[in-house]
Amino acid sequence: MSRVFSGVQPSGNLHLGNYLGAMKNFVKLQEDHECIYCVVDMHAITVKLDPLTLKKNVLEVAAAFIASGINPEKSIIFVQSQVSAHAELAWIFNCVARLGWLNRMTQFKEKAGKNREGASIGLYTYPILMAADILAYHATHVPVGDDQRQHLELARDIASKFNSDFGNEFFPITEPVIMGVATRVMSLRDGKKKMSKSEESDYSRLNLTDNKDEIVNKIKKAKTDPMVLPDLDCLGENGMFKDQILQERPETVNLLNIYSALSEEPMEKVISNFSGRQFTHFKNELSDLAVEVLTPVNDEIKKLLGNNSFMEDILKKGKEKAIEISDPIINETKRIVGYF
Ligand code: TYM
Repeated sequence: MSRVFSGVQPSGNLHLGNYLGAMKNFVKLQEDHECIYCVVDMHAITVKLDPLTLKKNVLEVAAAFIASGINPEKSIIFVQSQVSAHAELAWIFNCVARLGWLNRMTQFKEKAGKNREGASIGLYTYPILMAADILAYHATHVPVGDDQRQHLELARDIASKFNSDFGNEFFPITEPVIMGVATRVMSLRDGKKKMSKSEESDYSRLNLTDNKDEIVNKIKKAKTDPMVLPDLDCLGENGMFKDQILQERPETVNLLNIYSALSEEPMEKVISNFSGRQFTHFKNELSDLAVEVLTPVNDEIKKLLGNNSFMEDILKKGKEKAIEISDPIINETKRIVGYF
């Protein structure tokens, strides 16, 4: 049986990368899978976060799930800290995973930066909690953006080692689902940097809460290059951008990817439409498209956040359903490891 699990951190500033790289795919998958979508507040406190802001952000992510099209009647939406299986399984996995595996995690190195000694232990063991999130539900498929690929490999390693340590096939070996043209949406200010919640400049990203004027303004100011839009020669035989254009025109590639993902048009068609045109023309079209796709999401988030009891009811029901699935799995895990 296949079961989908994924999570989004309530660390504020949900952006276009989260939407195109993850949430849009969450919506597609619910058509023919059992899906569990989690607001991962335990992950969010691995860096300092004001408690009131955390509460507000949790509701905002849950609202964004629904506003993007996740149907709470069909899919489970819940908050990580409300289901104890995550913390319990994370401890067991702390004892299964090896130090050397964590030392390879590039995201820790990036996030801790130069101040490694001052980073929280939680930030370091973060991918273990992620493995626990997924495996507490025996999830088989995990839709994420490209930046989570290494963490999902670690989840596979942990499941394999647990199974071989205890001589069983208890945990599934999870498949990452990294789909679409927008698996890595880049910053609007620097095409070599990922669009991210924590980037200081708000002009680097389109937030899901941005209004029409903000969207138009940010796209207008987005970095480009002095050339016109490229022609089909920029694609290789496999339909992907050639290395040369990726190296030389990363901002152009990023904006074309965003256009293709938002319009759901194949890249060949997008390039044919704009080839030889100036950026002013392309940016106007991209702004119209982004406004058309993102403002209904933004409006719906606002509407949902105005209805607290509706949101709380969804999260309560989600929590109950999540416990129903994870309880027997965590209980069996405890029996396997020999807890008293
Ligand atoms: P988070 O909260 O940073 O991001 C949520 C999702 O958005 C994707 N994403 C992007 N996709 C494309 N382009 C970008 N610029 C971009 N930025 C972010 C992420 O890949 C992610 O899918 N550790 C995870 C949350 C998590 C999780 C899990 C995911 C916790 N437990 C279990 C899957 C399964 C994270 O920090 O995502």
